[in-house]
Parts: sequence; C-alpha cells; structure tokens
Amino acid sequence: MLAAPVVDAEYMAEVERARRDLRALIASKSCAPIMLRLAWHDAGTYDKATKTGGPNGSIRFPQEYSHAANAGIKIAIDLLEPMKQKHPKITYADLYQLAGVVAVEVTGGPTIDYVPGRRDSSDSPEEGRLPDAKKGAAHLREVFYRMGLSDKDIVALSGGHTLGKARPERSGFDGAWTKDPLKFDNSYFIELLKENSEGLLKLPTDKALVEDPTFRRYVELYAKDEDAFFRDYAESHKKLSELGFTPS
Ligand code: HEM
Repeated sequence: MLAAPVVDAEYMAEVERARRDLRALIASKSCAPIMLRLAWHDAGTYDKATKTGGPNGSIRFPQEYSHAANAGIKIAIDLLEPMKQKHPKITYADLYQLAGVVAVEVTGGPTIDYVPGRRDSSDSPEEGRLPDAKKGAAHLREVFYRMGLSDKDIVALSGGHTLGKARPERSGFDGAWTKDPLKFDNSYFIELLKENSEGLLKLPTDKALVEDPTFRRYVELYAKDEDAFFRDYAESHKKLSELGFTPS
C-alpha cells in the first residue's frame, strides 16, 4: 500500500482538470459502460473483515484484471492510462473512481459526490470476490454484506445495468438490459418487472431482485419513481467508491 496522496488545493484542481478530460474521453469513445464497470470491479473486492481489496487501483495489475470476472476490463484500464500520464498526481484509485462517477453523470444519471484521496495498492485480492451472475439472492447478500453494503445498496447498484451490455466472449452472456444502453435512467427496473422483455438480457442475479420479496420492494419503487432511484443510487455509489477509505 502506497502513502495516501496529499489532497491540497493543487490536487483538487488536478481532479477538476481530469474530470473535464474524462467527460471528453467518455463522450468521444462511448465508453461509459466499461468505465462504470471498471470502477465497480476495483471497489467491489472489498472485505470489511480484513480491510482488504476495495477501490485501490489494484485492478490495473495482470494478476487481478486476468480474473475471469474482469474479462474485457483491460480496455478501460488502457483507455485511462494516458489520463494518468497527463495527471500523474492523481492516484489510479482516485482516477478509476472519478471515471465511474463521470460515466454515470455524462449518460444522464445523478451527480455523485466525489471525494479524492484514495491510496494505490499493488496487493490484488484472491479471485472470487466479485459476484457470480449465475447465482441467486443468497449469494448477492453474501458478497455485498462482505463489503459492508445493504439490501438497498444491492438493488440500487444493480441499476448500473441500465448501461452497457454483456458479450459472449467475455462473460458468456449476451445482450443489453435496456433499449438504450448509453442512457442512465430507471429503465433497468422497468424491464425487470416485465414478464417478457424481448431481446433484452436478465442475468440470474438480476432475476433474483424480483424473486426475493425484500429486493423486490426496491425494484418496484425504482421502476415507478426515477427520482428515488437516482437519490439512492448516488448514495450507494458513493459508499461503493469509498469502501475502506476515510477521507482526510
Ligand atoms: C456488465 C454481472 C453488478 C455495472 C456485467 C456483465 C456481467 C455482470 C456478467 C457482462 C460483462 C460482459 O460480458 O462484458 C454483474 C453481477 C452483479 C453486477 C452478477 C451483481 C449484482 C453491477 C454493479 C454495477 C455494474 C453494482 C455498477 C454499479 C455493469 C456495467 C456493465 C456490466 C456498466 C456493462 C459493461 C459493458 O458494457 O462493457 N455485469 N454485475 N454491475 N455491469 Fe454488472
């Protein structure tokens, strides 16, 4: 684990410059989905019991990005490397989480409060900490509770599947969850409640959200009230992006 960066006025100014560059990069490459996935996969390895994993930039190393769950993630890592060279002061951990926040914002999602100061680490966690899409509600709880997150966080964050799609050569699954995978809105939940969303993807873990009564209450709320989804999503995303991190 490297030392924490000193978040002074110059660091904050650099973050704002990187934020502008990220907006341009994400718009020009239409890469919001994979940027959000990178931020989530760097953070989602957190284990609150051992205080290991989490948003620490360790996903940039082959020992971690080669995990099966990270298939395709190297594309996002490579797209961000020139950004790191241009803004060397900013840690990888901060840069990846900033990319996730900007990805949500530029596709029409909520503004997520972003606090910099994450340390970089080269300690990659063992494989198997990210959720397995073939499993159900009990598995989702096991994985997200390990991070210190709640049922509400599980459902709100699953709304990240409003963006992007699955590819057979990466995950073995195929297709998008919504009709406009470059727009961040509550359509993921609307589609989830339909019996038949023709041509759209539902992973077993997505289906678990409507089958489990506690999860389902949030799905129903978010499908009918986009403001409620945006509010809870912004809160849960901030929690995810700050796992194991205490802002100085
Ligand atoms: C894509 C699983 C939660 C954001 C995917 C894919 C799978 C998956 C299998 C397809 C990957 C591919 O083929 O390229 C899961 C499971 C989750 C979960 C099992 C457990 C709840 C999340 C969360 C977020 C998220 C919490 C963000 C907040 C995304 C995005 C994509 C994606 C944006 C699309 C990437 C692209 O288009 O390149 N997820 N995911 N996922 N996931 Fe998740």
